[in-house]
Amino acid sequence: MVDDRERLSYGVYYGESFSVYIIDILSFFSAIIAIIIVIIAISVIIIIIPTITTLTTRSMITIASAAVTRDGYMDDCSSARLVISGDEDWREVHELRAGCDAILVGAGTLRKDDPALVIRDENLRRRREAAGQPADIIKVAVSGSGRLDPSLRFFTEGTGRKIVITRHDADAAAVEKYSRLAEVIRLPRITAGNIAGRLAEAGTGKLMVEGGAEILKMFFDEDMADRLRLAVSPLTLEEASGRRDICAPRLPYFEHLPFEGSATRRTHRAGAMTVNDYIIHPKADARDIELLRRAIDLSRLCTPTATAYCVGCVIATARGSIFEGYTHESGPHNHAEEEAILKAEASGADLSGATIYTSMEPCSTRRSKPVSCCELILRHKMERVVYAMAEPDKFARCDSDAILRKAGVEVVVPEGFARQVAEINGLTGR
Ligand SMILES: NC(=O)c1ccc[n+]([C@@H]2O[C@H](COP(=O)([O-])OP(=O)(O)OC[C@H]3O[C@@H](n4cnc5c(N)ncnc54)[C@H](OP(=O)(O)O)[C@@H]3O)[C@@H](O)[C@H]2O)c1
Repeated sequence: MVDDRERLSYGVYYGESFSVYIIDILSFFSAIIAIIIVIIAISVIIIIIPTITTLTTRSMITIASAAVTRDGYMDDCSSARLVISGDEDWREVHELRAGCDAILVGAGTLRKDDPALVIRDENLRRRREAAGQPADIIKVAVSGSGRLDPSLRFFTEGTGRKIVITRHDADAAAVEKYSRLAEVIRLPRITAGNIAGRLAEAGTGKLMVEGGAEILKMFFDEDMADRLRLAVSPLTLEEASGRRDICAPRLPYFEHLPFEGSATRRTHRAGAMTVNDYIIHPKADARDIELLRRAIDLSRLCTPTATAYCVGCVIATARGSIFEGYTHESGPHNHAEEEAILKAEASGADLSGATIYTSMEPCSTRRSKPVSCCELILRHKMERVVYAMAEPDKFARCDSDAILRKAGVEVVVPEGFARQVAEINGLTGR
């Protein structure tokens, strides 16, 4: 007699009731559905979540900042903090901080230097408040172990948000001691990408990373630093501290600067320090987008002609003045950039260090005048050019983007605006 539980290898039951057979089929399909759900969940974790994080972090600007001795050291090995910067450099660093939403340091820096990381200058505090921002920027500490002393000035000073980024397996007792003084974010793995993702979610548009060496290395290794402000002292470590500490923290990759592929290096003096500004990934911030939009709006004021594009331009000087113009505003051959530059010149404004926003890439050659807008930008020593759309080779060949970048100007082309400019100029659908 055949056992009615006996099953043939090809999966058909002998003597089993029809209902049991149906239940087996349903179980089979349930298992398939469960497997599909698991696959979808894994895909979400592996593909979609990192993509969202990448998209949010892509819009965040990360500025690394450090002061080093002439031979690249960030400190010596003594218990006291080595003074590398002078007053002028500090003033600039505080100015840069005040333009950011958050400042981040590693636990090593907190333990060694106990920095307060607040904005003390009343003018800077007022300026932030007038712009609708809290007077203090968000302070962020990174500590894998979680072992930070709650009496550190990081916790006790300043009125702004304080965030400690730590690992899931951090020292729970240590974290508990400051858990009421700061928000604690636990990550399974601390990486620059994970940190940036969480800070972007918390509303950070501009992050300043002030060290120390291990933290900077993490940001450089993951290519997560968009800019590096590096103040270099005229003194070597030995000259500055009287010591020859080979254990002293050194700026990672100091001898490889500027990083390969990194664009611009601007250099200026801040007292005795030489300040190098490396633009690793040119990016637009919220203010850039606002002024680029304004430039595009201005281009709509221009009367279209058969011989020129309708372009709008805004110049923001280093001192905060704004000059605007659009094509043919005051002269039949004037480009938008020229119109804005003429107004700036008439008011006696200094355009060195300015940012120029134009709806279309500035011209590099032109038939109507001997000097191109690209040349004017270089002559006036403007530092940044933000434009919406590359100039089509309709009236003349345009090489400004390459010329400006080669000359050390930071060129930013934010995504998502070219179509508007093309429409304004009747260039769509061709
Ligand atoms: N000259 C300058 O501009 C400047 C600026 C800042 C600092 N400094 C100097 O730099 C020195 C400190 O630098 P440093 O390299 O020793 O320390 P650091 O970079 O400030 O901090 C290192 C600490 O951060 C945490 N950390 C970093 N990456 C991590 C990761 N991937 N996962 C988990 N935890 C991570 C760890 O904290 P836990 O130990 O808690 O796990 C690690 O010990 C000091 O001497 C300071 O004076 C100089």
